[in-house]
Amino acid sequence: MDSFIIRGPSRLEGSVRISGAKNAMLPLMAATILTGGQCILDNVPDLRDTRTMMKVLETLGIPSSLEDGVLSIDAASVTSFEAPYDLVRTMRASIYVLGPLLARFGKARVSMPGGCAWGPRPIDQHLKGMMTLGAKIRIDHGYIDAQADRLKGAEVILTMPSVGATVNIMLAASLADGETVLENAAREPEISALAGALRSAGVEIEGDGTSTIHIQGRDSIEPFRHAVIPDRIEAGTYAAAALITGGDVTLENCRPDQMHSVIDKLEACGAEVTVTDDTMRVVGPKKIAPVDIDTGYYPSFPTDMQAQMMAVLCIADGASTIVEHVYPDRFTHVPELRRFGAKITLDGHVAVVSGVKKLEGAPVMATDIRASSALLLAAMVAEGETKVLRIYHIERGYEDIENKLRALGADITRVTD
Ligand code: EPU
Repeated sequence: MDSFIIRGPSRLEGSVRISGAKNAMLPLMAATILTGGQCILDNVPDLRDTRTMMKVLETLGIPSSLEDGVLSIDAASVTSFEAPYDLVRTMRASIYVLGPLLARFGKARVSMPGGCAWGPRPIDQHLKGMMTLGAKIRIDHGYIDAQADRLKGAEVILTMPSVGATVNIMLAASLADGETVLENAAREPEISALAGALRSAGVEIEGDGTSTIHIQGRDSIEPFRHAVIPDRIEAGTYAAAALITGGDVTLENCRPDQMHSVIDKLEACGAEVTVTDDTMRVVGPKKIAPVDIDTGYYPSFPTDMQAQMMAVLCIADGASTIVEHVYPDRFTHVPELRRFGAKITLDGHVAVVSGVKKLEGAPVMATDIRASSALLLAAMVAEGETKVLRIYHIERGYEDIENKLRALGADITRVTD
């Protein structure tokens, strides 16, 4: 198992190219199942999650290949309708194959994802959506067994604006008979990106980016070629790296217009942020000002940036409060950050971070994608050596992170234990 050794403190300087967004790419990969043809995705990041989704598709009989950011997927035929536990347990988004398999073939068997390190993470909204479109669902030995004749468009009202349920329902509705109206839909940019790809494949979709999405189902869907949007969370993480190290970093190939809530907090911390349509320069202050953060659904502050901003606030000049509204238990990074000497108290879903003058390098353990990037941020300002164990979590969501950080001036090396 690989680890990172980081020696701090360091100051990051230079520019970094932001990769395609993991959370936009995974729905697009699942969407190819609807087409029965050869699809191409551009700007695809080579991540552990990309490879896991390729394996999920391969298990279904759909071959794919990834070279230089171009992912070719041949969804002409499907030979299995089952996404097995071994893959779903390593990546919950494997459940995205449920909607398209059901819509195109009338059957799907997908392992239940189960809970994760930060809570139960139910999928009831996905299942409610499929049933409202006419599917019969049975839970059988830990698997979702779904059957349907042709799905029928319907009104689906989500209890909360779940990104995953919105994706699954949009995919299923695209091949359903008639119109689906999805109420209380997620408004994340990744949803609009999926809508854009489906539109390019001939599906009529309106309202993406708002809480009500209309999808006019079709009898068949054209194969498509589509580019993955830049990753706003990877961009936010490098912006936080510039902030915490008092550095000067320019993010290239990013979408500042999709990052307003993050930019607001960077500026409130004292960073100087300059944007163009597709770049963002972040200059960190001498002293980081404390800020209060409430996570929420887009366009609120993303839960996927909570851990990274907590790392930044560990060395702020005063106390900050972070309230996690999306995943109340998403705090596995707190005990690890304390190992650097951070002062954090946790009461339910509220964390109070009292800034300290300096952090000290320590052995720490990555627990999920974003928690692990928070540990890298802390390690870069901590004095001395940090060893981050279990970095496979980082590799799920950050393309080539050690080379990108090293090019910006971080002292980071990969070691194999
Ligand atoms: N929820 C339910 N029932 C459901 C679905 C969701 O109760 O059927 C709840 C969840 O427990 C949570 C809230 O609704 O409290 C929102 O969950 P959502 O379904 O939106 O999350 P997700 O689709 O499972 C995606 C991202 C996550 C990101 C969340 C929130 C992907 C592949 N994953 O997850 O990304 O944190 O939206 O924005 O898009 C990451 O990239 O590190 C990551 C965890």
